[in-house]
Amino acid sequence: MIYCDDNLVRLAQFPDESVDLIYLDPPFFSNKKYEVIWGDEGEVRSFEDRWEGGIEVYVQWMKERVIEMQRILKDTGSIYLHCDWHASHYLKVMMDDVFGYGNFQNDIVWYYRGAGVSKKRFGRRHDIILFYTKSRENTFNIDDVRTPYAEATQERFKHHIGNIRKGRDFGLQTLHPKGKHPDDVWQIQPVAPSDTVRKLYNYPTLKPEALLERIIKASSNEGDVVLDPFCGCGTTVVVAERLERKWIGIDISPTACSLMKLRLNRTGVKNVSLIGMPVTIGDLKKLKPFEFQNWVVIEGFNGSLSPRKVGDKGIDGFTFMSHDPIQVKQSEKVGRNVVDNFQTAVERTKKQKGYIVAFSFTRGAKEEAARCKRQKGLEIKLVPVKDLLKKMHSKGSGQFSLLF
Ligand SMILES: C[S@@+](CC[C@H](N)C(=O)[O-])C[C@H]1O[C@@H](n2cnc3c(N)ncnc32)[C@H](O)[C@@H]1O
Repeated sequence: MIYCDDNLVRLAQFPDESVDLIYLDPPFFSNKKYEVIWGDEGEVRSFEDRWEGGIEVYVQWMKERVIEMQRILKDTGSIYLHCDWHASHYLKVMMDDVFGYGNFQNDIVWYYRGAGVSKKRFGRRHDIILFYTKSRENTFNIDDVRTPYAEATQERFKHHIGNIRKGRDFGLQTLHPKGKHPDDVWQIQPVAPSDTVRKLYNYPTLKPEALLERIIKASSNEGDVVLDPFCGCGTTVVVAERLERKWIGIDISPTACSLMKLRLNRTGVKNVSLIGMPVTIGDLKKLKPFEFQNWVVIEGFNGSLSPRKVGDKGIDGFTFMSHDPIQVKQSEKVGRNVVDNFQTAVERTKKQKGYIVAFSFTRGAKEEAARCKRQKGLEIKLVPVKDLLKKMHSKGSGQFSLLF
């Protein structure tokens, strides 16, 4: 189940004690790049308004949500809050307040290698994951997350391990046959820019699946409910599915939700319920421009977003499979000049077909598209948003590309 909504609204509708594990990776305070995940440069401005009032405003915003999370967590449940140096110290105090100092378990250091250092300080190379439980009765499957012992340790204890395999126990001084009890420093590489998942979803804050795998295996069992209320492009839910947990993802961004669904579909999960996406012309008119554009490309065409920056030559995305260019206009009465310019952009890609999506087109635009077909054999399809919606509703979301 994926909800496209402000998580505060959705969490308030969950029954008490209904979830086994929560992992959350919220926007970090004071990091504009992080905050402006799906947007363009214009979105940076809204960041300033959002956290006006400083860290207290941010922590309060988080606290409202964490209170709901504490309520819906089962007595055996756990919560992992992913953050970094910007606000981890403030968030820990807030978590103590909501969950109780006694229910703190770990501040896990996720240590990674990477480039870029300041001459003024040591390299910042870790995130913090605050791990709390609802009570002392928490699920914790240590044997499912043991890690291999260091080679030197294995060498030192070689004969003991051999003896354990033969069924003999040497007491305290032996190594565990399933490996070492991991500590609270985890060295896991971030998702590389060249990674297929990163390239496919073009999403900067993507977290490694290995990180989620350890959390989910340790703090839930098969069939349990795992929730990620800031789900991004769905790392938690993909891993939860693979590990045979039930899962719920929430994200306020329609782009994130579309990508999440696409990612799940591509990993073989077909029956994904996506609730709260825009369904009417009115909903679509209210979307931020980049969300509208992404909605058309991903939801409407099952396509891929253009890697280029906003305003760059008028191609916003490409259709699924045939990779024909798409241009998106969140406006009415799109005219002749738009078709004219798009035609040049399509010619540059050496494609024979392209799509312009808008709320409506002028007669001049239609004539220009017809002329283009007649004289150059280039097909510019003008797709009114209402037709796109109608086709999506009749065929089910994600099927539109098959209609062309
Ligand atoms: C850092 S990203 C999560 C990345 C995710 N862990 C992954 O691996 O893909 C944070 C997400 O929180 C979402 N978000 C921000 N405010 C939200 C809110 N109030 N309710 C739900 N989602 C929100 C953003 O749209 C963004 O996708």
